[in-house]
Amino acid sequence: AQTKTLKAIRAGKLIDVEHATVLENVIILIDHDTIKAVGKNIPIPDSAQIIDLGGSTVLPGLIDCHTHITAQPSGDYYADIFRATQVDDAIMGTVFARKTLEAGFTTCRDVGARGFADVALRNAINRGAVPGPRLFVATLFIGATGSHGDISGFSPYLQWDLPRQMLGVADGIDELRKQVRYNIKYGADIIKFGASAGVLSEEESVGAPQYTQEEMNAIVAETKAWGKKACAHAHGTEAIKMAVKAGVASIEHGSMLDDEAIALMKQYGTYLVADIYNDDYIRTEYARLGYPDKIIEKEKLVGQVQRESFQQAVKAGVKIAFGTDAGVYPHGWNAKQFYYMVKFGCTPMQAIQAATINAADLIGNAKIGNIKAGCYADIIAVKADVLKDITTLENVAFVMKGGEVFKQ
Ligand code: ARG
Repeated sequence: AQTKTLKAIRAGKLIDVEHATVLENVIILIDHDTIKAVGKNIPIPDSAQIIDLGGSTVLPGLIDCHTHITAQPSGDYYADIFRATQVDDAIMGTVFARKTLEAGFTTCRDVGARGFADVALRNAINRGAVPGPRLFVATLFIGATGSHGDISGFSPYLQWDLPRQMLGVADGIDELRKQVRYNIKYGADIIKFGASAGVLSEEESVGAPQYTQEEMNAIVAETKAWGKKACAHAHGTEAIKMAVKAGVASIEHGSMLDDEAIALMKQYGTYLVADIYNDDYIRTEYARLGYPDKIIEKEKLVGQVQRESFQQAVKAGVKIAFGTDAGVYPHGWNAKQFYYMVKFGCTPMQAIQAATINAADLIGNAKIGNIKAGCYADIIAVKADVLKDITTLENVAFVMKGGEVFKQ
């Protein structure tokens, strides 16, 4: 069947994320992968295929700024660490990518994968070989020896037959600059590093800094020299402040904010990307999935605190971008986080903006996150009133990415 390259969507309602308003009875004209015009009185060419979404609310394709699309717990903790390879990740990534796209997420900023599986997946999606969101990828998580990004807690005689560089483990300014260059050489769009300890790893603390200020400064400076943005995994207050001062574009998790951290984030224009849904999933499912108690105990230290920090940050006007850490919990469930964002201080419109126009700003791409002329035709629709009930986004009825319909 021949697909028409000109398409016209009739939108009953359209969420204008740029002006935080709702427009009614709007036509979106699409040519190939790009939006050509948006408005009430746009002539529809005879050659256009008409897509009637008159009974729906149309919004830009959603953007998740914190995914691990090549991973998800299989149910066997040790097998995931010791038996699965980056090839398993790449294969499963194609499955997770489709689920994510069908859930209405047309772009993901994917912040850490093994063995460059994320680069392979991004490229296959861009070629049109695999259905999935547009991916902006970090490749290897950069972490210090023994950090959240290292494989900690196991026998020192376990040999990974790989140079440390291939695992993203780097210490000191010289190694870190080299690691940034290495990641970029092999396909990184962004750089992610571990400013603090974490939850889902076997090192002891959740929040302690894991690099010095000088090391963080070097990572960010080197990243910027290559024209890219850095983001930092940071739960603890001190590590958050250090990463903000180093100049990261976003703080990931941001669990333990205080007034000074919030003030610094405002001063530096740093985005907060807080994964405030997954605590529910970790607490109810991770024991069954074979995770050690130690890790579940660590989750209890951050889950609630992180939601309260998020609320404070929203109140203070810190820039918020939507990011879920999907991969910690099942891909395709990304939208479950909207409920918590609204519960902890966002208006529904703000939560939608976090996942569209703000996310596009953080990623640094003006062609995503908005429905206007010149943007990619990344468009979704829902049946109910999303500004009344944000959980409507958990049931996306229509998905178009780059002018191609993936769900209807
Ligand atoms: N990847 C993160 C970590 O291991 C997940 C944290 C999940 N918990 C939370 N409350 N957000 O540190």
